[in-house]
Amino acid sequence: MTQDEAKQLVAQRAAALVEDGMDVGLGTGTTSTMFIHALGARVKAGLKIRCVASSDASHNLAASLGINILTLPELPQLDLYIDGADEVGPQLALIKGGGGALLREKIVASASRRFVVVVDSTKLVPTLGRFPLPVEVIRMALPLVQRQLADLDLNPSLRRQPDGSPYLTDEHNYILTCACRSIPDPERTAAHIRSIVGVVEHGLFLHMASTALIADDDGVRELKP
Ligand code: 5RP
Repeated sequence: MTQDEAKQLVAQRAAALVEDGMDVGLGTGTTSTMFIHALGARVKAGLKIRCVASSDASHNLAASLGINILTLPELPQLDLYIDGADEVGPQLALIKGGGGALLREKIVASASRRFVVVVDSTKLVPTLGRFPLPVEVIRMALPLVQRQLADLDLNPSLRRQPDGSPYLTDEHNYILTCACRSIPDPERTAAHIRSIVGVVEHGLFLHMASTALIADDDGVRELKP
């Protein structure tokens, strides 16, 4: 099974978790895009739900598929949030934000009673950190934050667009990508990053996921923290 086939499988399984009357958070990224398409097909077949998205891209996709999509201020409490991840470590500690949407993803996840992470099995790791950790930063604070992340040996570099211009998030902030290599103590790293003035949010999602659905050649299995 290819990675895309595994993503498709787990996206379909996640769409089957959604029930009539639910308020659902929509993630961002390729797996979430597949999930939103699967959900759109169920809505077309009569499923009645309301949704909030974690990015402009997912919001627009959901709207184009006829999904009833609102904003978080309109729908501040959600039943279920479905999203992918870049890495899934022990206790379902996650690195997220490879798609640049970590801030809104963390906000929507924290507004949801259940957060189900949907990944192919290549995302499972014994220790977080091989995937570069994104940190969202207020633009005027960039040099200050970059220096302090470097002092923590987190090897930050500014995320750029293919044309070389700085990448801007949906909230118009910059992203510093930290080539940490290994994060043996995610709580400690999260606390260090959070203490830096000018950091808006980081891509470590700790104690947030309720369940992970992991797809590989053997099908989809469920992991709990
Ligand atoms: C976007 C994310 C994504 O969930 C993460 O990057 C995984 O993406 P994909 O499903 O494309 O592998 O955090 O900000």
